[in-house]
Amino acid sequence: MQQVTGALGGRKAVITGAASGIGRGILEAFVREGATVLAVDLPSGQWETSNVVENGVARLAVDVTLADAPARVVEAARNMLGGIDILVNNAGISPAGDVETTSDEMWSRVMALNVDAVFRLTRAAVPFLKQSGSGRIINTGSIMSEIASPSIIAYVTSKHAVAGMTKAMAMDLGQYGICANFLQPGAIVTPLSEAHMADEQYVAHWKRKIPLGRLGEPDDIGPVAVFLASDAARYVSGEGLRIDGGAAFNA
Ligand SMILES: NC(=O)c1ccc[n+]([C@@H]2O[C@H](COP(=O)([O-])OP(=O)(O)OC[C@H]3O[C@@H](n4cnc5c(N)ncnc54)[C@H](O)[C@@H]3O)[C@@H](O)[C@H]2O)c1
Repeated sequence: MQQVTGALGGRKAVITGAASGIGRGILEAFVREGATVLAVDLPSGQWETSNVVENGVARLAVDVTLADAPARVVEAARNMLGGIDILVNNAGISPAGDVETTSDEMWSRVMALNVDAVFRLTRAAVPFLKQSGSGRIINTGSIMSEIASPSIIAYVTSKHAVAGMTKAMAMDLGQYGICANFLQPGAIVTPLSEAHMADEQYVAHWKRKIPLGRLGEPDDIGPVAVFLASDAARYVSGEGLRIDGGAAFNA
């Protein structure tokens, strides 16, 4: 039975990269607020397609960079949820490489997931978002959507692209009442950032930079995504929201 109370009561959401880190934080926050969610992630021993909605969640195991992934995701959303009100394009990777060491293969892999898959899945979801009446697109950018950091050139480029793409989506889809915004997490402790977190200098650098004095957790992101998905943010579109403890303005 679908819950109709909560900030997202009765809403149908798709979240990519929902098995781990920030995506899982968003998934848990959405379910707490009454949304029914199609949670999408790579197939693995721990992540298989569920074919049922259980405790507000149906799982779909698919690589979102595959050519047929957008069609598979929207088809599953139609079958399992009955539509899409909220699309959260969150899956992303951040392999290390600077301008000299980044290979063509690494560059293409980052763009395929962090940029192309966001565009292609959104395009496939638009007919459903139009029908929603309160359609929301939430893309996971980064504070690297507006600043740079050493040795992640493909990632920084891709997250700047997410900012531009989200603003363009807001322009194109506003006429249908669809809001498009992007999250800008700072240094958040997740499996993606694990390698960096093992580097004491990296952690010390960020702690110095963050006025709030601590690294972020996925639980710091979920409620902000809930806000952007909710009626409270119905007049917010084309916006990037920093969730970084204040790091980005502290040059
Ligand atoms: N952790 C941070 O400090 C940080 C900061 C800013 C932005 N972000 C962004 O947040 C998002 C989530 O990152 P995270 O830190 O939670 O990472 P994470 O590695 O914990 O989670 C990413 C999830 O995406 C999934 N995924 C990867 N490739 C996929 C594919 N091809 N198809 C489907 N799913 C796929 C992974 O299996 C994983 O579950 C990313 O877009 C990342 O760039 C993270």
